[in-house]
This record gives sequence, structure tokens and C-alpha cells, in this order.
Amino acid sequence: MPREKSEQSNINVLKLSGSIFFSEGFREIVESITRVLDRMKKLRLVVICGGGSTARRYIEAGSRLGVDKASLDEIGIQISRLNARIFSLALGDLAFEQIPSSISQVAELITLSSIRGKRVVSMGGLHPGQSTNAVAALVAEKVRATKFFNLTDVEGVYDKDPKKFRDAKLLRTVTVEQLEGILRNEAMLPGGYDLMDPVALRLIRRSRINTIILKCGGKELERALSGRYDFGTRIVFKRV
Ligand code: UTP
Repeated sequence: MPREKSEQSNINVLKLSGSIFFSEGFREIVESITRVLDRMKKLRLVVICGGGSTARRYIEAGSRLGVDKASLDEIGIQISRLNARIFSLALGDLAFEQIPSSISQVAELITLSSIRGKRVVSMGGLHPGQSTNAVAALVAEKVRATKFFNLTDVEGVYDKDPKKFRDAKLLRTVTVEQLEGILRNEAMLPGGYDLMDPVALRLIRRSRINTIILKCGGKELERALSGRYDFGTRIVFKRV
């Protein structure tokens, strides 16, 4: 049964790139989230942690040994869940200890959050054959998140590769169709990072998820969660 709007309206979904877990910025992100949660008492977060370079190294090693792709995906999922565990430990009492392994568990934990006094669900991947971006979009759909922030290593989506073109412009808004076009040409992506995958884009389009792609920094995140995102790229939808 759909939950009341008042209960749903304060859930934000964050996708954290796996690259942040071994960076200087990790502590800053944890501190920013703690400050925002202290200020915004009704806000609850589901944070999906990427696997980053650690996952990629394991996957490369397994691949060289001839391990099948589905099993390699499972290894990637395990690494993303380890990152999620570190993240939940860093947040202490604010976060559930349990790392959900299904979409229904996420919904259950969110329902329990006010009873248990927990404000954050931290998680990694769910199923082989997709990325944590797809997981984040699915969670945003399931919990009817008001916002989905995709925090990456780049400022947002550019009209062309800023490393090759000095006049490349950061797009403040992009349609799903435009983004699909840009993603089709991997070389056009700044740094070559996967900002979104096709599964995530399909979910964003079908549920018109309020999605913002921005750089993964503590200061930016704090402003974004407070509703002040005059940076990054927002996905917009054509009128139907
Ligand atoms: P990520 O989605 O985190 O890849 O999952 P990534 O490109 O490293 O993302 P960032 O850079 O941290 O943002 C790591 C790997 O885990 C598997 C995939 O193999 C993916 O490449 N995975 C992850 C799944 O198979 N299913 C999932 O639900 C999540």
C-alpha cells in the first residue's frame, strides 16, 4: 500500500562513487551528512555506495583467471557492500548496521527508521548485470525519493569532453534523451566515468525521478541536501 505523502516526502537517495572511500574527502562527506541530518530532522537518506577501483581490481584479477562475468559481478557487489559497511560505521548511531540485499529490505528499513531512531540506510549493489547507479535509481523509485543525487568524480554532464575541448560547457540541465546520446559516446564523458547506465536512465525516465548529478564533495553535498544546488546537472523531462 502506498505510504502517506508526509511520510515519504523527506527521503533523499545518494549514490556515492566508490572512489571516495579511500580519499581525503570521505571524512568531509560523513561530517556534512551528520550536520545536515542534525539540522533537517525529517530528512532520511538511502546511500548507495559504489565499488570503485577496488571492485575493478578484483574484477580484472578474476577476469584474467577466466572467471565468468556473473561471478565477477557478485564480487563487485560484495566490494560495494564493504564500502557501505564502512560508511554505516562512520555514521555511527545515525545509520542502520544492516546492509540490505534486496529492494524490499530497503523499504522495510525505511519504514522502521522512526521506530529505531536511524536516519540512514547504507547499501551497495543488489543483482549481477547492473551498476550501483541502477540500484540507486531503483531505490529512488521504491521509496519515492524526493531527490536522487548522483555524486561522481566530475562536476556534472558536459556538452563535450572538457579534456579535449577548452570550450566544453557544463550543462545545468539535460534531458534523458540528451544524456543517452552523450553516454553512447563514451569518449565524450569527462574522465570517461559512467555517470549513469541504461537501466538507471530507463527508471529515471519512467518515474520522472528528480535526479541531480554533481561532484562528490562534502561542501557541495551539504548545500545540495539543503536544497541549494546551483551547480551540477539536473535531469529534466519533456512535457507529456
Ligand atoms: P559499481 O556500480 O560501483 O561500479 O559496481 P563502478 O563503476 O565502480 O562505480 P563507481 O565508480 O564506484 O561509482 C562495481 C561492480 O559491481 C557489479 C558490477 O560488476 C560493477 O561493475 N555490480 C554492482 C553488479 O553486478 N550489480 C549491482 O547491483 C552493483
